[in-house]
Amino acid sequence: MSPQKLSSSVKRETFLGFQPPAVGDEEVAAVAEAIRSGWLTTGPKAAELEQRFAEYVGAKHALAVSSGTAAMHLALVALGVGPGDEVITTPITWPATANVIVHTGATPIFADVRDIDLNIDPARAAELVTPRTKAIMPVHLYGQPADLEPIHALGLPVVEDAAHAAESEYRGRKVGGLSDATCFSLYATKSIAAGEGGIVTTNDDELAESIRALTIMRRGHGSLYDIAVPGYKANLSDVLASIALCQLDKVERHRALRLRQVELYDAAVAELDGIDPVARDSRDLHAHHLYPVRVSAEAGETRDAYRQALAEENIGTSVHFLPVHQLIAYRERFPDQPPLPVAEQAGAELLSLPLSPAHSEADIEDAIEALRRVHASFTAA
Ligand SMILES: Cc1ncc(COP(=O)(O)O)c(C=O)c1O
Repeated sequence: MSPQKLSSSVKRETFLGFQPPAVGDEEVAAVAEAIRSGWLTTGPKAAELEQRFAEYVGAKHALAVSSGTAAMHLALVALGVGPGDEVITTPITWPATANVIVHTGATPIFADVRDIDLNIDPARAAELVTPRTKAIMPVHLYGQPADLEPIHALGLPVVEDAAHAAESEYRGRKVGGLSDATCFSLYATKSIAAGEGGIVTTNDDELAESIRALTIMRRGHGSLYDIAVPGYKANLSDVLASIALCQLDKVERHRALRLRQVELYDAAVAELDGIDPVARDSRDLHAHHLYPVRVSAEAGETRDAYRQALAEENIGTSVHFLPVHQLIAYRERFPDQPPLPVAEQAGAELLSLPLSPAHSEADIEDAIEALRRVHASFTAA
């Protein structure tokens, strides 16, 4: 046995975090500069982020806000979504996508996902449209764009959840200027990580103005003030915007590092029965925000058993996502959902492996070796 093989056949000594942020001296220096400038709240750095992000995604407007959740909520409110309305979304997402619908007073309607990529199935969404449907919220899951063409064809306002999709392209066009509003997250694990924060992009001048009015509550009239709408405190501070600007500089380089990690995983899981990556569409540019696999019966044990065994191997994993309609808040308050068998099956099988530009190839090899060992022990006759 080669020394390399020998060294990789033992448990990793330190815990491999699932998705640590890739930040360094540039971010530290930028934060120090922001603090020294005296702009702790929204100021020139937030404005610069808005301008540069709009250019990056090719949208007319980008508005920096306090979270991806706030971005989605503000977009829905600005589109006039409210009590009595329905908004169609996917059950395979972080609960925030559905929570913001509830926050407006509207009812979330979950359309089942496609088995192939676990993005919202446009055919299922079309069946659920009623006179009360006010908007559709597709999610670009893991960075694979949802199939927007048939969704746009429904003729309803579309708010994209692009929390995973800062770099994505749908059929050759960058995600960010394709629908009424597109909402990005700057959360600590995201491709452009500020710790917390979000950005909403749109090509619609009026919508941008409405979102701005809802976000910033200061409107000067001489030395006094006035407000046109009772808005939300959802602006982004310059301290966080300055981190996001550094991350924007690195976004394509970081994606290339993750892509290499994806290649290593793809080659490895091809050899493991019952461990299957989620499909990607070669017509689109995938952001590779996460590396999820589906753990099916041939893998010999459940997803949860794999997660536990990998943790014992010092390998951190996560689950993206448990179906939202099965979470307590939704199953109790919105029990009358259409059947969602594809989402429910996926929700029991999904496991995300460590992926981050902060990880080295040796880290990913450790995760792969641990997965091989666990698989071998779970499938031993
Ligand atoms: C798919 C998806 N949507 C929305 C969000 C919410 O973003 P934020 O945490 O910035 O509010 C997340 C964040 O984890 C997410 O993964």
